Amino acid sequence: MSATPRLLLGIETSCDETAAAVVEDGRRTLSSVVSSQVELHAEFGGVVPEIAGRAHLARIVPVVRAALAEAGVERPARQLAAVAATTGPGLVGALLVGVASAKALALAWELPFVGVNHLEGHLYASLLEDPTFEPPMVVLLVSGGHTLLVHVAAPGRYRLLGRTIDDAAGEAYDKVARMLGLGYPGGPPLDRLAAIGDPGIVRFPRGLADEPGCDLSFSGLKTSVLRWVRAHPEAAVADVAAAFQEAVVDVLALKLRRAAALVHAPAVCLAGGVAANSALRARVAADAEADGRRCFLPSRAMCTDNAAMVAAAGWWRWRADGATPLDAPADPNLRLRFEAEPVGAAR
Ligand code: KG4
Ligand code: ZN
Repeated sequence: MSATPRLLLGIETSCDETAAAVVEDGRRTLSSVVSSQVELHAEFGGVVPEIAGRAHLARIVPVVRAALAEAGVERPARQLAAVAATTGPGLVGALLVGVASAKALALAWELPFVGVNHLEGHLYASLLEDPTFEPPMVVLLVSGGHTLLVHVAAPGRYRLLGRTIDDAAGEAYDKVARMLGLGYPGGPPLDRLAAIGDPGIVRFPRGLADEPGCDLSFSGLKTSVLRWVRAHPEAAVADVAAAFQEAVVDVLALKLRRAAALVHAPAVCLAGGVAANSALRARVAADAEADGRRCFLPSRAMCTDNAAMVAAAGWWRWRADGATPLDAPADPNLRLRFEAEPVGAAR
């Protein structure tokens, strides 16, 4: 065993996945255990905070145990460098379970605790999967709660290039899927149906596509789909799905391309649950190739919430800022720190 431990235990409980992982040097995943609660929330058509908190509490200990065992960590106090957990943004009752668990373990093992921003975790997902992939890069982070375009100049150095001014892309997927009677979460079934539908049936609006800048908007699109479906009850669901998906992908790809050009980024990548979308992946890869940029598309497991990305972000955050105080709160509205603001001693 090396004198200075380089393994970090990460814990993620911000929404409906109870996850723990052990990562070496912020880049090599030794274990990543994810217990999804999606089946508990499906009948309600969305995540129920109270149910999420209770399920995290029931699952956190077995999940952490499994992550340590899979990574071969038998003596955490000696083998780990720190324990990291997502402190926000997310559901407060869900966050508290992971944060309290991580603090308790850090205290018991006499290790530093590191609080991690969930979004910062998503930014690191690509670096975990491809050891040759390095910043600078532009990340399109598209999830159920967030839609951001971020320039990652180096670990810990971020600049916000654009964001949604209303709904997140995943939220639009979930709402339109519900309108079409496709269940929850809506992204995967909508994606599958869109692949067999005819997008030419109607042209839905591309929010802010004609506006300068890299901001995005999806609420107008959602309303247009609702109105159109009401006016055309005979339309095939697959065709509506295809037309909706084309509008979303068009505007996401356009703004990612614009953002990458703006900062002359040599590389782009996707992150977050919507990064699993097949049409978005194909379009972004084709655009990057045409523009001569490297492109990284995370695996489906790395698109959705997991703790390996939290451990990776925690590693860099710990090296830049040191330990997080044990009285640090869980913050449901935690914001990512961008370059204009102090970002610690990030290199
Ligand atoms: O990142 P994530 O697992 O959770 C957070 O929101 O943090 O993202 C979940 C979102 C949901 O809105 C889901 O419908 C969407 O990602 N999603 C997809 C696909 N797979 C998941 N959206 C479009 N196409 C997909 N294939
Ligand atoms: Zn997420």
